[in-house]
Amino acid sequence: MSDNEKVERLLKLREESRLGGGKDRIKKQHEKGKLTARERLDILLDKGSFQEIDAFVTHRSSAFGLDNQKFLGDGVVTGSGKINGRPVYVFSQDFTVFGGSLSETHAEKICKVMDLALKNGVPVIGLNDSGGARIQEGVSSLGGYAEVFWRNSMASGVVPQISAIMGPCAGGAVYSPALTDFVYMVKNTSYMFVTGPNVVKTVTHEEVTSEDLGGASAHGTKSGVAHFATENDADCLNKIRQLMSYIPQNCEEKTPHLEEREPDSAKAAALDNLVPLNANKPYNIKDVIEGVMDKDSFYEVHENYADNIVVGFARLEGRSLGIVANQPLSLAGVLDIDASVKGARFVRFCDAFNIPLVVFEDVPGFLPGTDQEWGGIIKHGAKLLYAFCEATVPKMTVITRKAYGGAYDVMNSKHIRADYNVAWPTAEIAVMGTKGAVEIIFRREITKAGDPEAKQLELEEEYNQEFAHPYKAAARGFIDDVILPSETRQKLIHAFELCQNKVDSVPKRKHDNLPL
Ligand code: HXC
Repeated sequence: MSDNEKVERLLKLREESRLGGGKDRIKKQHEKGKLTARERLDILLDKGSFQEIDAFVTHRSSAFGLDNQKFLGDGVVTGSGKINGRPVYVFSQDFTVFGGSLSETHAEKICKVMDLALKNGVPVIGLNDSGGARIQEGVSSLGGYAEVFWRNSMASGVVPQISAIMGPCAGGAVYSPALTDFVYMVKNTSYMFVTGPNVVKTVTHEEVTSEDLGGASAHGTKSGVAHFATENDADCLNKIRQLMSYIPQNCEEKTPHLEEREPDSAKAAALDNLVPLNANKPYNIKDVIEGVMDKDSFYEVHENYADNIVVGFARLEGRSLGIVANQPLSLAGVLDIDASVKGARFVRFCDAFNIPLVVFEDVPGFLPGTDQEWGGIIKHGAKLLYAFCEATVPKMTVITRKAYGGAYDVMNSKHIRADYNVAWPTAEIAVMGTKGAVEIIFRREITKAGDPEAKQLELEEEYNQEFAHPYKAAARGFIDDVILPSETRQKLIHAFELCQNKVDSVPKRKHDNLPL
């Protein structure tokens, strides 16, 4: 074979590999509104940065005539590239080859990039579009999945792992994304479920579509499995690029520092008059976040799930932070099961990857009721408490209004080792809200009074004078200062500067026993 022929052979094989399952199947993929595995990588990664590996891998099966059906790459495109100039490892399943199904070799390719990611301290992003286990390979394929799951678990907390669901994802295959840090889904073209609509119908007699059972909206609003529900493939991939700008490459690195920006000037100017004098009136906690943080830097996570708590990333003078905030606009900002789990998961991600935390607190307590108690609010609320307790990153709290009861302790209080806690003058730090407290401790006085209603109001006023302010907590040093809302940004900048080299640790142990 001449040199020219050798080169031509390589180019021909490359072209063959690039075509995956062939032009007809690529056309079908496009007709469904989906991009191909490679087109997706083109959007996800910086232009021209993708370096493929294992493009010539094929499966080793011969069952059911598979030895006559080999596709270079075996249904997954793997390699590395850059996002905003920083390296990432990627795998992108190719639905045009056996429906992106996972064979033993397909799994080996994914495992190879995961091993490299872990060894080199580089994030790994998986684009999932697959019919699940390659049926013809039987248990070899199941073994392949388990190899991926094991690596997901080993990499957890060491390098960030991001999953995008861009097509089907069913059966046990859902557990790899579930083990990763953030799950993105594409509306109308992706779904995730353990058992599909047909099995559901047989077992529970429920009639449900794939979209309703496990589409982006179902998982983005009901189950919380998806952190982001995106409009289409390009939107999904661009959102992942954005996310990567907030997070470090691995658990040893500090957070990235981007260009510094002033906050939104209108929102910053409105801060001093934002919290209504009437404690029962809501306001939008996102106005606080946007008034304090760098303009347009807030990147919300789990936007449509448990919206009584708001979590996400933002920047303060260019440095990224994790925000956890009670939302008075939804259920008065109360903590319930979903909000506790959502908050806990986010706090743990930030702590694992050295991302400092800011809490904006306005919380009337935990949600009462049989639903919550029987659903396990005790153990789920404990997750959020545990997450804040174990976090050793710099952690700050700003109490904007209510800090009542157990929720006061849970929401990053000084007692669980927060670094800098302040309250606005509108803060009310007490065991419970005025009305409830007065009804309990003055029940006898109120019933005996000639005019019980007037007595109740008089006692409520007395209680307010005594407790509905931040100065009792300030007198004990449980908050470090009472500040004007407009002073918040500068105070936090100063506090974070001081904590930049904070060293803290937890006792030596095999691993913790977070209340699951
Ligand atoms: C092998 C598969 C496949 C699979 C799809 N294909 N799934 N090949 N193993 N699991 C092939 C099809 O034969 C077809 O090949 C091509 O992929 C496209 O499939 P279509 O059915 O034509 O596409 P579509 O109509 O879009 O339907 C997609 C689908 C459907 C919904 C994913 O194919 C499907 O239901 N597949 C089976 C899903 C499944 O039950 N998987 C096992 C789940 S259990 P051609 O040659 O015609 O293009 C599991 C266990 C994991 O995964 C456990 C881990 C612990």
